[in-house]
Amino acid sequence: MKILFAAAEAVPLAKVGGMADVVGSLPAALSRLGEDVRLIMPGYGIISRDKFPAETEIESIPVEAMGRKDNIRLKKTKINGKITVYLVENDHYFGQPSVYTDNWDLPRFLFFSMAVVETLKVLDWRPDLVHCHDWHTAIIPLLIKKSGLDAATVFTIHNLAYQGQFDRDFLASSGLEKIWPVSDNYPRLTLMNQGILNADMVSTVSENYAREILTDEFGEGLAPLLRSRQNSLVGIVNGIDGGEYDPGNDPHLPRNYTSSSPRDKASSKAALQLKVNLPQKPGVPVIGMVSRLDEQKGLDLLEKAAGHVLDSADIQLVILGKGREEYHKFVNRLAEKYRDKVAVSIGFNNPLAHLIYGGSDIFLMPSRFEPCGLGQLIAMRYGTVPLVRRTGGLADTVLPLSADLASGHGFVFQEYRPEALTTALQGAVKAYETQKPAWEALVRRIMSLDFSWDASAKKYQSLYARALKKKTGK
Ligand code: GLC
Repeated sequence: MKILFAAAEAVPLAKVGGMADVVGSLPAALSRLGEDVRLIMPGYGIISRDKFPAETEIESIPVEAMGRKDNIRLKKTKINGKITVYLVENDHYFGQPSVYTDNWDLPRFLFFSMAVVETLKVLDWRPDLVHCHDWHTAIIPLLIKKSGLDAATVFTIHNLAYQGQFDRDFLASSGLEKIWPVSDNYPRLTLMNQGILNADMVSTVSENYAREILTDEFGEGLAPLLRSRQNSLVGIVNGIDGGEYDPGNDPHLPRNYTSSSPRDKASSKAALQLKVNLPQKPGVPVIGMVSRLDEQKGLDLLEKAAGHVLDSADIQLVILGKGREEYHKFVNRLAEKYRDKVAVSIGFNNPLAHLIYGGSDIFLMPSRFEPCGLGQLIAMRYGTVPLVRRTGGLADTVLPLSADLASGHGFVFQEYRPEALTTALQGAVKAYETQKPAWEALVRRIMSLDFSWDASAKKYQSLYARALKKKTGK
């Protein structure tokens, strides 16, 4: 099958969130199963043309959008040595030095989506199916229908909280009004709506989240719409890229280790403490967090719980991430106040992220909601015990530990309350301090779990087959 992924981000070209990891690694897994998968994404100015030399595929393709007559240049490069990526270049829309902008993304990604469909009309490689990811590309299934192209479509929701919302004025000025379905009686005008309505199949990134979003609590206003497509909605849990995240072969760790040599993890812990300027104490539990710093990730909970735990226990907390300004301030304040206990780094830093996964004892993810979550999967691969809230994909992937640590994968709490997080953290620290042999066995056990893409890639194959069947009626 020929499959085209359309998305706003893909590792290693441009990454802001977890979607980039999925879009960058799932195609390779599908191609191992024999599928011909390619990617199309904006050719952002920030993509390194030295690292990823791109040749011109089509010099100029006209795209009429937002009342402007434009052109794109279609370039072609490769990632992982084998997956073809088409880059849609246009300086006006994608020349900025960042993936996203503060308030201009709607026209940018609408333009991109239109450009994808114009490209499909002229490209000599004709996909059987277009797999769209999140709101940025959610309009593509509708555009494909209207253009008479015969590709089937799949729309995957990585995060329902971002929907690409706009108003009637924008609808008129964008030119979309001509094709907008009159049947759209959902309260808000969003691109995400159209992805859910028009894709042949809809998916999200864990089975549990696929159930949760049918409820008003997690549906972000779209639960009725999602329920109307319940028979075409599936959850498929994300995998991780086993090559990128392998403690046995990770250039960012001082010494590599595997589930049969987990004690060598200690050198990563020492290196991490040194790197972030915390006292090099091997016996103190290090709690790591690599995360977007926003409400989704439970930062408001942490804000209320952190002081209590830091005052009462001998622990170290290492936080890496970027997000909302108020949370940058909060974590920096914490690092100021607890100089010997808390280290903070604001930003993206891949080598440091790897060292946190390898060097921490406990990995913290107290998310309010979590479509899948990748951090907990990576942490387990590195023998770092996750502490998570039971929600979304976290509930699917982190089975709660028994009191003797003999079964389960991590510390799990349920209530979204600071006290629940505090209790879970204190329990984890106590287990670390008092159940050494059981903890070591736990580390070996979670390192041996299989979070590769293999099983999920097969589920995507069946999803694609269902989508094709719907499209062709066969
Ligand atoms: C989004 C979600 C996260 C998911 C990722 C990849 O970032 O918030 O839960 O793992 O997409 O699908």
